[in-house]
Amino acid sequence: MDYEKYMKICIQLAKQGEGKVSPNPLVGCVVLDKDGNKISEGFHAKYGENHAERDALLKLKNGEEKDGTLIVNLEPCSHFGKTPPCTDLIIERGIKKVVIGMRDVNPIVSGIQKLKNSGIEVIEGVLEDECRELNEIFIKNITQNKPFIAIKTATTLDGKIATSTGSSKWITSDEARNKVKNIRNRYDAIMTTSSTILADNPSMIHKKKIILDRCLKTDLESKIYQQGEVYVFCDEITSPHPSPKLGEGAVVSDSRTNAGEVIFIKTPSKENKLDLNFVLKKMYELGIKSILVESGGRLNGEMLKYADKIYHFIAPKITGDNSSLSCFDFRKITDINECENFKIKSVEQFGKDILLIYLRA
Ligand SMILES: NC(=O)c1ccc[n+]([C@@H]2O[C@H](COP(=O)([O-])OP(=O)(O)OC[C@H]3O[C@@H](n4cnc5c(N)ncnc54)[C@H](OP(=O)(O)O)[C@@H]3O)[C@@H](O)[C@H]2O)c1
Repeated sequence: MDYEKYMKICIQLAKQGEGKVSPNPLVGCVVLDKDGNKISEGFHAKYGENHAERDALLKLKNGEEKDGTLIVNLEPCSHFGKTPPCTDLIIERGIKKVVIGMRDVNPIVSGIQKLKNSGIEVIEGVLEDECRELNEIFIKNITQNKPFIAIKTATTLDGKIATSTGSSKWITSDEARNKVKNIRNRYDAIMTTSSTILADNPSMIHKKKIILDRCLKTDLESKIYQQGEVYVFCDEITSPHPSPKLGEGAVVSDSRTNAGEVIFIKTPSKENKLDLNFVLKKMYELGIKSILVESGGRLNGEMLKYADKIYHFIAPKITGDNSSLSCFDFRKITDINECENFKIKSVEQFGKDILLIYLRA
C-alpha cells in the first residue's frame, strides 16, 4: 500500500488549518475502506473544532470504514481536551490499521499505546520529516515552551533592504509580495519596529501585530494601527495617559483607533534597546505561539539568535552602494570565521525573484 501518497494528502489537508488552529497542531486525515479505497478525508480546521480524525470519521454514516485504514500525520490524541479522544472513535468505528506520520511530542498523548492495546495495527514514521516540518511551530512550543520565530526579508543581490535615504518600495515583484501574504498567514503575529513604520508606513494586514517602539515615536494614525490587534512594547506607557508608575510588564489598552485595540506593554531596556527575551516571553504568555519578524536590518540582526527560520526574498538588482541598509546589521566582525552559519532548505522562484529559506546550521 502506498502510504506515502496518502500521507502527502494528509499534509495538504492539514495546511488548510494554517492560521486558524494555533496553539493546536496542523492535522489532516484520510480513511480507506478494507479494500484500500479512499472513502473519507478530514482536517482540523479551527481551534476548538473537531480534530482531523473525527472530522473524517464523522462523514461516514454506513460503517464502510469497518476493518479499514486511517492515515494521519500526527499520533491521534488519547485525552479529553476541547473534544473527546480521537482514539476512542477510531476504536469504536472498527478501524483495523492506523498509519501515523509522527508521534505527538505532547507527553499527555499516548494514542499509539491505546490503539495497540485495542488490537489495532499501528504503522509509524511515514514521511516523518515532512510531518515534523509541517508542525515545526507546535513542536517548538511543546518542547521548549517558546514561540517559533521566523524572519522575512526582501533584498537586492547585494543584500540591501533600502537605500541610505530609506527608499525601499519596491525591491521585489508583485508575485514575491503576494507570497509574503501567504507566509504571514502561518504565523500568530507579525513583529516590526518604530523605524520601519516611520520609514514606510506599512499596513501589514494581520490579526495580531507587535511593534517595538521604545519611546512611542509612532503615530496611532499610522496605517499599521488601523487594523488588527496591536501590541506596542515601550519603555514608558505615556498613552492613553502618562502612567510612569506602572511596573514592568504592565499592560494598558487603548481603543482609540477605528479598527483594533492597541495594547501597550511596559518593557525593560538594555543599552537603549528593548529586552527581546522579555518581549518574546510576554508574547508567549499572551498566547502568541509564532512570530514573523518583518523589520529592517537592526532588529533582523538582533533577532537572528532567536530565529528558527529565515525567508529571504532576493531580487535580481544591485544597489552598488555600501551606504544602503543591509538586511542583517547588528555588529562588527574582523574574522570571516565569526559569521553566523545557516543551511539552505529550499530555493523557489516567484516572478523575477527567488525565495531562499534557510535554517540554523
Ligand atoms: N526590504 C525589507 O524587507 C524591509 C523590511 C522592513 C523594513 N525595511 C526598511 O528598513 C529600514 C529600517 O531599518 P533599520 O535597520 O533602520 O530599523 P529596524 O531594524 O526596522 O528597527 C530598529 C529600531 O527598532 C527598535 N528596537 C527596539 N528594541 C530593539 C532591539 N532590541 N534591537 C533592535 N532594534 C530595536 C529601535 O527603535 P526604538 O528605540 O524607537 O524602539 C531601533 O531603532 C527602513 O528604511 C525600511 O524601509 C525593509
